[in-house]
Amino acid sequence: MGLTGSTGIKGGFQFRYQNLIGAGRVTEEALQALQPAMDRAAAAVREIRGGGFSKAHLSKDGTPEHVYFPRQAYLAEGNPNDEESVRRLEELGAAWKDTVDAAVFIGIGGSYLGDKVVFDLAAKPYWNQLPKKERNGYPQIYFAGNNVDGTALQGLMRHLTLQAQHVGHPLHIQLVPISKSGTTMEPLTSFAALLSYMRKHPEWFVTDITAVTVLDAEASLLYRLAQENNWPAFSIPEGIGGRFCILSNPGLLMCAALGYDIRSLLEGAREMSELCLAAEGTDNPALLNAALKFLAAEKLGADIEVLMGYGDALQCLGAWYVQLLAESLGKRLDRNGKTAFYGRTPVVAVGTTDMHSMTQQHQDGKRNKVIQFLEVEKPAEALVVDNPFPQEKAFSLYAGKEMNVLLQAALTANETALTEDGRLNARYVLPELSPRYIGQLLMFLMYSIAYEGELADVDAYDQPGVEAYKRIMKAELAKAE
Ligand code: PA5
Repeated sequence: MGLTGSTGIKGGFQFRYQNLIGAGRVTEEALQALQPAMDRAAAAVREIRGGGFSKAHLSKDGTPEHVYFPRQAYLAEGNPNDEESVRRLEELGAAWKDTVDAAVFIGIGGSYLGDKVVFDLAAKPYWNQLPKKERNGYPQIYFAGNNVDGTALQGLMRHLTLQAQHVGHPLHIQLVPISKSGTTMEPLTSFAALLSYMRKHPEWFVTDITAVTVLDAEASLLYRLAQENNWPAFSIPEGIGGRFCILSNPGLLMCAALGYDIRSLLEGAREMSELCLAAEGTDNPALLNAALKFLAAEKLGADIEVLMGYGDALQCLGAWYVQLLAESLGKRLDRNGKTAFYGRTPVVAVGTTDMHSMTQQHQDGKRNKVIQFLEVEKPAEALVVDNPFPQEKAFSLYAGKEMNVLLQAALTANETALTEDGRLNARYVLPELSPRYIGQLLMFLMYSIAYEGELADVDAYDQPGVEAYKRIMKAELAKAE
């Protein structure tokens, strides 16, 4: 089958899958047998890219709905991003630079996670504590609306107030409510609370609002408010579900707010998209990834996937992937209405941190997991471990070594230990955390989920399961005083 153990983009993203293949793992025979289904999955996803529809996918109100996630990578009129929309974002970034003190991004689920991923990957550590010059004039970034937590929200109000008092003049704040539906409880209530507080205190705050929502005043309360109040609004395009929106306005607005290179991010996404659409069978990294996980679940009972990124900045990427996997593949019914109870439980881990907590379970617990490592080869900043204790022999093991060398050694040791015990694991590798490679990775993960949806014959683009609690909650709230 031409399985070399590694595939990806030359000089870019690599998927190293050799520890998923072989006796006691996913066999080449099983993969061979799946080949016709993989070909059908590839054709179905090409159809999504071309025609914009996925088999049997309907919106919440039961009407056919586009699936445009692959189109985010291509700037063209009618696509989620075009020249004009990117230019508008870049203009917003330039306008906020040096003028906005802090931007508060207010969203939940897909309307939060993509922004937080971009923030963690693009902003330097301790961003908000850095002097403005170190931030190249870009604003501090805060998040709200990711829960209904009055204590946390008042903490943010207090923090911003103290800052204003400290500098002795009102802070220029951008509130950025992000909600596709424009009606979600968490962001709407947090937005309302923040806005009311800031309006009551003009001595501390000059407040502007930039809304991100579906541009439909009947459907989106947020958009109606934006129109009535002349707030600038950015669209969340039809065909882009929350968990897939990181490469369109909601995620790209965070790029703009940080001066991050939107065009390189999309270029990387485009490179991965082109590869997935053109490569055959196991040369398609996302299709191979999907097929291996699908078979690992079906044949070996691996119904847990741990995404373990090595480095602090990768934690939220794991949380974003948790949503992508859980909401897309966790389905009661297949697309023919048959009970499927499909899906894998996604778990976020961070290396080396969780080697001191979860690795015990990964190494010795139930054999029901794929440990998916994520490695960044070159750190943004190198740091050599100094040795203030030359007399200490034990310390010489680390002294003089670059921290990233230690990080890589830990990852390889974890991988080897799992592999020696026949435990399923694989590695995603990025040469560095540049916008282009991040674009490649994000698109790879979205395509992987799309292919697995096809293999399992479930609708990867709806989330009917979340309606059950919403119905109960709304009825209860309507009854409550
Ligand atoms: O992926 C999804 O569709 C969800 O996680 C939504 O992003 C989340 O529920 C927030 O919805 P909205 O953007 O409509 O406020």
